Amino acid sequence: MSQTKIHPTLARPTLESLGPVTAEEAQLLERLDLSRMPRHVAVIMDGNGRWAQKRHLPRIAGHRSGTQSARTTIETCARLKIEALTLYAFSVENWRRPQTEIDFLMQLLREYLKKEMPLLQRNEIRMRFLGRIEELPAAVQNDAREAMEKTAGNKGMVLCVALNYGGRAEIVDAMNAILREHNGHGASSRITAEQIAQHLYTEGLPDPDLLIRTSGELRVSNFLLWQIAYAEIFVTDTLWPDFNRARLLEALVEFQKRERRYGGIREGQPANEKPARVAGN
Ligand code: FPP
Repeated sequence: MSQTKIHPTLARPTLESLGPVTAEEAQLLERLDLSRMPRHVAVIMDGNGRWAQKRHLPRIAGHRSGTQSARTTIETCARLKIEALTLYAFSVENWRRPQTEIDFLMQLLREYLKKEMPLLQRNEIRMRFLGRIEELPAAVQNDAREAMEKTAGNKGMVLCVALNYGGRAEIVDAMNAILREHNGHGASSRITAEQIAQHLYTEGLPDPDLLIRTSGELRVSNFLLWQIAYAEIFVTDTLWPDFNRARLLEALVEFQKRERRYGGIREGQPANEKPARVAGN
């Protein structure tokens, strides 16, 4: 729904950018190497319903409380100069929920976009929406468009909200877009990995390096199927409304402990030969 390119000159984060921190956050920050942050963090915000259930509250209370965790995550990632953050807010499968819950989630998102606009602007955040946005209620589409327009000139983190999003649907949409181009221009019939990436909703963004999932489920749930090919996955038992800044810092510290090999061999390990092949297109 928008053309967003990562700004090449995002400044290095400093510890001061976070403002006052708790003792636990300070300890985690000591273990964090600010020069090796993930470029793109994706989050499956799960467990709102269980959080509410544990408190004998309606499920929607969990969603409302989850907006606070979204706020903290967005602001912290922006201040840590992470280039892109993607939040999974509503999947194509979520239409199976009761209509009252769907209506509440749509309303909550609309309220959120209005209420948090000052925070987005203050932190130079650019908004983008991933998914079949044209299938959403007209009012949500309008608010989404407005939020993108208002933040289009910002130079900081790109915040993607995945709405009516499905990983398979995204790949189907990309294939159809490529087919339309091919039909129009009689282009060659072989589709490359680059072409697919350029037609995904995330066009122009780096692939997520870190995928966080709250509430303990060990599933990918049709989220960014193409893009998470090499993402490090961090699953925490914490329910989304309890996911605070310390839990986010913990995920980032854990990410930095992982050794990323992309199917090759360990960095620093003697490799006397050149790679036999570069990953297939
Ligand atoms: C999953 O919990 C959560 C959702 C489907 C909605 C997430 C939406 C928000 C947190 C609202 C705010 C979003 C933004 C971007 C401002 P669940 O209901 O599946 O929980 P359960 O698995 O415990 O039932």
